[in-house]
Amino acid sequence: MGIERGDREFCVSSSFKSSGQVSYELHDDVAVMTVNNAPVNALSLAIRQDLQANIERFDSDASAKAAVIVGAGKVFIAGADIREFKLPAIEPHLPDVIDRIEECTKPVIAAIHGVALGGGLEVALGCHFRVGVKGAKVGLPEVHLGIIPGAGGTQRLPRLAGYEKALEMIPSGAPIGTSDAKAAGILDHVSEESDAVAAGLAFARSVIDEGTPMRRCSQLVPAAVDAKMFEAAKLAVAKRARGQMSPVVGVEAVEVASQTSFAEGMEKEREMFMALKNSAQHRALSHAFFSDRALGKLPEIEGVAPRQLKAIGVIGGGTMGAGIATSALMNGLSVTLIERDEEALGRAKATIAANIGGAVKKGKLSADQEVRIFEEALKLSTDYGSLSNADLVIEAVFEDIEVKKQVFKQLDAVCKAGAVLATNTSYLDVDAIAAVTERPEDVIGLHFFSPAHIMKLLEVVVAEKTAPDVIATGFQLGKIMRKVAVRAGVCDGFIGNRILASYRTAADAIVMDGSTPFDVDEVMLEFGFAMGPYAVADLAGLDIGWATRKRKAPTLAPNERFFTFPDRLCEQGWFGQKTGKGFYIYENGARKGVPNPTVFEVLAEERKQKKITEQNLSKEQILERYMAAMVNEAAKVVEEGIALRPLDVDMTLIYGYGFPRWRGGPMQYADEVGLEKILNNIREYAREDDYFWQPAKLLEELVESGRTFADLNAGKGSQSATKT
Ligand code: CAA
Ligand code: NAI
Repeated sequence: MGIERGDREFCVSSSFKSSGQVSYELHDDVAVMTVNNAPVNALSLAIRQDLQANIERFDSDASAKAAVIVGAGKVFIAGADIREFKLPAIEPHLPDVIDRIEECTKPVIAAIHGVALGGGLEVALGCHFRVGVKGAKVGLPEVHLGIIPGAGGTQRLPRLAGYEKALEMIPSGAPIGTSDAKAAGILDHVSEESDAVAAGLAFARSVIDEGTPMRRCSQLVPAAVDAKMFEAAKLAVAKRARGQMSPVVGVEAVEVASQTSFAEGMEKEREMFMALKNSAQHRALSHAFFSDRALGKLPEIEGVAPRQLKAIGVIGGGTMGAGIATSALMNGLSVTLIERDEEALGRAKATIAANIGGAVKKGKLSADQEVRIFEEALKLSTDYGSLSNADLVIEAVFEDIEVKKQVFKQLDAVCKAGAVLATNTSYLDVDAIAAVTERPEDVIGLHFFSPAHIMKLLEVVVAEKTAPDVIATGFQLGKIMRKVAVRAGVCDGFIGNRILASYRTAADAIVMDGSTPFDVDEVMLEFGFAMGPYAVADLAGLDIGWATRKRKAPTLAPNERFFTFPDRLCEQGWFGQKTGKGFYIYENGARKGVPNPTVFEVLAEERKQKKITEQNLSKEQILERYMAAMVNEAAKVVEEGIALRPLDVDMTLIYGYGFPRWRGGPMQYADEVGLEKILNNIREYAREDDYFWQPAKLLEELVESGRTFADLNAGKGSQSATKT
């Protein structure tokens, strides 16, 4: 390996030319290597090559007595380059580069600012010392991508910080701050400097002057440990992970460190890492990572500035209005809340106070902030005129189009020019609401989920005439409120509730035809949902579905199946959790119920009346039907442009409906299962019920052309070709 000292572009092999993304600069007798790969200094091939070359250079540079590795820009290093994971791995591999750092004969110091995550922390663990500046964070978040640290993190961290710390950090993926990291021995020093180079240089000086012995994590002797600790950790982690593999494998990898030599541990870590890297869970979680970041990247608002957002209005202080107001207040906005009368205002205020008080107890807000909210930020009124200065108003009154139209007429009369007028409707036509105003371009749907101060999802519903800067303002509000905003179009139920209605219908059919609600719930729990659909129905209140069915009954198509078995429960006053009985029985206010035996009788009676021959569906068949309904409706939602891309559907279901993130959402899941298989299933089910099971054109088209939903996400072929 030839190195021409002093030359910026030097060779480490006959074919390698440095890209210069890791610079090498001497500060007296200390070499500073700066990793520069915006935006987060990910360890791409070029960075690994450069880093390796610079380490070689440092080792043979007689004028350098120590080296400091720093990151340019906002962070130290955010880990491996996730975008390269899909490509064949090219040498030098990260573990080898890190081994080379550790093997250096002179001290190497990692000076960390911003974050050192994943491979970034692993690089730091390969160094002989680690310094953090104020506000820095270190972590191994790989489990969130469905993998484990693959460059020695699972073997070096327990040796350096102990098994307990490693078992806390690796399976959770949560980063820790400087004081925690210092206490755990991960950082040798926390600097008062804000500049990482200065902090690293000062530390290097002291190491050189004091001759501090170099410490190599791989050579530290792990403390003795009781194997039972790992068993307990595996059980606890598996319970929380609900089917996700990586956190459990993370525990196993740490356990390996307690059983073998470092070299053997590294081999095992590699095997585990590679197995996960090739898994569907890793593909799903990477998809979720990039989808999160793609949600707000919309051509229609690119470069469009949002309107001012300081003071907002909320109309209606019921379940949703009070939650929305809470969320806005917690995130620094001023809120004027309008209700029909003083009594309703009092109830709204009490709900908000309870929400805010809860946030203070959990340490999410300070007591001072609580005082400020009630003394300055929140105003309560029955007079729409007090909204004249609001930048944005969110209506959350009863789900009744006439009531909403009335509210919007009043808003049109009192709100200032340029104010955004938003509705939180779940199903109603936002275009029809906009049409009653003189300013439909200012009207938008902002569909929050209950409880609105906790749930992450916000559907930004774009109506026909909504102006681009109003859309941008909707996304901006999502950002301020720390929500995940997804663009949706206008239809009955937008993205989420429309798809929900479809898979709920499929579930009812499955139950009517011979399974029980408890079978369906069990299958969906095993799939990774936190709750099955019938437990969710009990939680939301069975009266909601009952009212919907009553409205729907007169409008049924002749060949449309209609499921009334839940009505038999409602008729007895059983509305779910709030009445102590529904599909489940909730003894003494318990939140988890036991199956209600009356459900079996009700179903037997209904099947008899409707002359249904019971089918005995296996768990797999239940899952296939449920997911086929979800995917088929989701494909229609994309086909019609209600969701712009499959990824918008995936994130909606993950953040609003409990779809397991590690499965990536229904569209990602469908790609994994195979679209052809799903389409064939739908065609098969259509033989029994050709009203419900009408295949989405988009699904047929993708199968025909051999494409996937991921292809649409990547812009390969547009779904608009099939727009109805
Ligand atoms: N590789 C490639 N690209 C990355 C990346 C990574 N590790 N981390 C972030 N990016 C990209 C993002 O996709 C985004 O790209 P676009 O602008 O094109 O959307 C851009 O960098 C900025 O990211 P954010 O929007 O997330 O910026 P932020 O300032 O809000 O957050 C961050 C910065 C905290 C570093 C956050 O990006 C993050 O958590 N990144 C992932 C860290 C991670 O998971 N590291 C482990 C990687 S796996 C690994 O290292 C395995 C191993 O053992 C070797
Ligand atoms: P709610 O019945 O709890 O609250 C509605 C509130 O609006 C009541 O307090 C009522 O006094 C007030 N109100 C009615 N007319 C008014 C008027 N003209 N001026 C001022 N206040 C008025 O209803 P909820 O559940 O909060 O729903 C509100 C809206 O949010 C509906 O459109 C609903 O579809 C939607 N939504 C509901 C979700 C839920 O889970 N409850 C989830 C997402 C959206």
